[in-house]
Amino acid sequence: MDRLIAAATEIRLRAHAPYSGFLVGAALESSSGEMFVGCNVENASYGLCVCAERNAVAAAVAAGVTDWQRLAVVVDVSSPVAPCGACRQVLAEFCEELDVLLVTTSGIRVETRLSELLPRRFDGSQLDQGADEA
Ligand code: THU
Repeated sequence: MDRLIAAATEIRLRAHAPYSGFLVGAALESSSGEMFVGCNVENASYGLCVCAERNAVAAAVAAGVTDWQRLAVVVDVSSPVAPCGACRQVLAEFCEELDVLLVTTSGIRVETRLSELLPRRFDGSQLDQGADEA
């Protein structure tokens, strides 16, 4: 198995998901091959739940590594799932493009890219395009 998928599969088992029962594992690979993993962490105050992908992003950023080339997301349902909209936007903060592997524990695999998941992204460069009203 691809080592990135193996890492996401392993970390998925650490998910704290007592409310949804939906365990997700994510692993980000840097351009030099370092890997950063995350699982979803839920809370009794549901709005505080954090997705696996964003926790992997936090781990990579905390390590000072933001040149990512691939993301793997692993779930244990019949079809692969793609990152939620919030996670797509958070990923886009750090990279123009990213290969994304959506995988089930049974081995179904879909390959996509961040630009396909989040076309016409909003990013920081759009904040200073010369609005004059201030
Ligand atoms: N979740 C993720 O961690 N990543 C996804 O791509 C989709 C959803 C989590 C959030 C919540 O803990 C649970 O799955 C159900 O939505």
